[in-house]
Amino acid sequence: MHSLIWDKTMINITAIILAAGQGTRMKSSQPKVLHQILGRPMIAYLLDTLKEEGVTDIVVVVGHQAEAVKAALKDYDLRFVIQEPQLGTGHAVQVAMPGVPPEAATVMVLCGDAPLISGESIAALRQLHRRTDAAVTVQTIELEDGAHYGRVVRATEDIRYVRIKKKPPSDRILKGQVVEIVQAKDAKDRPDLLAIREINTGAYCFDATFLLEGLTKIPQSPVTGEIYLTDLIHIARQQGRAVEALVDPDWEALLGINSRAELAGATRTVKHRINARHLDQGVTLIDPEVTYIESSVRIGKDTVIYPNVYLQGRTVIGENCRIEPNVKISDSHLADGVLVRMCCVITDSRLGPGVTLGPFAHLRPGSDLREEVHVGNFVEVKKSVLHEGVKAGHLTYLGDADIGAGANVGAGTITCNYDGEKKHPTIIGEGAFIGSNTALVAPVTVGAGAYVGAGSTITKDVPPGKLGVARARQVNKDRRLVGKKKEE
Ligand code: UD1
Ligand code: CA
Repeated sequence: MHSLIWDKTMINITAIILAAGQGTRMKSSQPKVLHQILGRPMIAYLLDTLKEEGVTDIVVVVGHQAEAVKAALKDYDLRFVIQEPQLGTGHAVQVAMPGVPPEAATVMVLCGDAPLISGESIAALRQLHRRTDAAVTVQTIELEDGAHYGRVVRATEDIRYVRIKKKPPSDRILKGQVVEIVQAKDAKDRPDLLAIREINTGAYCFDATFLLEGLTKIPQSPVTGEIYLTDLIHIARQQGRAVEALVDPDWEALLGINSRAELAGATRTVKHRINARHLDQGVTLIDPEVTYIESSVRIGKDTVIYPNVYLQGRTVIGENCRIEPNVKISDSHLADGVLVRMCCVITDSRLGPGVTLGPFAHLRPGSDLREEVHVGNFVEVKKSVLHEGVKAGHLTYLGDADIGAGANVGAGTITCNYDGEKKHPTIIGEGAFIGSNTALVAPVTVGAGAYVGAGSTITKDVPPGKLGVARARQVNKDRRLVGKKKEE
């Protein structure tokens, strides 16, 4: 029985996320809410914040490319409703209401295209709504220029509102209280309204009973033909209900994303948030403005990250590492004390303690560089284990290889792992020495402690401790022969 009570409190608030719009101003074939901010669809940030705030009952209104949005969010516990056609934000909430459980006392409405709202902002909005008896609590911000946003109109003096219904409680609106929200598009001939600097962020808490009934009363805008959710403020006032507005100082995070320029702005905001956390935890970012770290990445203290570094996905970087300029690391694990020099690309790989990499090295998926390995310039590694202390300093390709501890791979060594149909392994034993410009035609094994002469094309195994040489013997011909040829 306890669980029943618990469930009820959990379901007390339901969030509706509006995400059906096309996002015309993005000029994209992709739905707006799936555009990425540092590697994740923008709406994912909103979903995570709601979860952190304990808002778990969520209805998402989808329409434009609904299937793509649903597929991208399949890992979240959500209910979807389809809004087709999209007749405005009020219409979107009308469509969502059947998805709201009857126990819900408060309905929070948020926009999928304003996903950077912080947990504090959500909590503040909920708290104000809970403390008052408001039908609507709307979140606002103050901007220098209200641009295309909805203007928050407050009473300039105490007014008596003309009520439609007889029932009080408060038909008086005091000076400074919110009267209505007017869309910029609908106020083209009202410079006084356009001059208002307080704008609607599109986040609200509604009393569920009021919302259900109020939604049936919204008229179509004579200008755009849309059904505006914001009309509910005016409707609440007509019913003599209280309206609260919370001016949130965090304007940067609360701005909606309607264009590529605003998407770039949102990326900047998220980048600052993430980078501030790393700086706080003892990571040096030489220039945080040009360091891009996705939210999932973890970095140990005293690691130094140079400009133009991009760290993605499930990447974990240890302590005391140095990541030099122009490096991109995805889904990789770097132990402590790793040095990645300029211009390296590392994907789905592991680097042990004290590894040095680059400049200009490429680690493709499945590269496993153990302790103190050195991989130098113009070396590409794929699906290979380089055991402790291996050195591959220059101009080399190592694919499908297992290279024993302490082996030395000379400049220009190539594992010829592909025969045109299949990939084959190359095994190099501990302490082996591969001379420069060697082609190792796989499958092939070079034994422990074996040597391969420079310029060899190795097609047969080299036993441990032997020297394999496979190249044409040098012939020094009479120089006059060359001369003669020239004269002919
Ligand atoms: C809306 C608000 C405006 C506010 C601004 C904040 C209205 C009428 N206007 O304007 O006051 O300042 O947000 O960003 O509410 N959507 C649907 N179905 C629809 C229409 C929209 O799901 O039929 C979704 C969109 O996908 C988007 C959100 O609602 O996520 C906001 O819609 P948008 O068209 O961007 O509204 P704005 O014009 O920005
Ligand atoms: Ca918008």
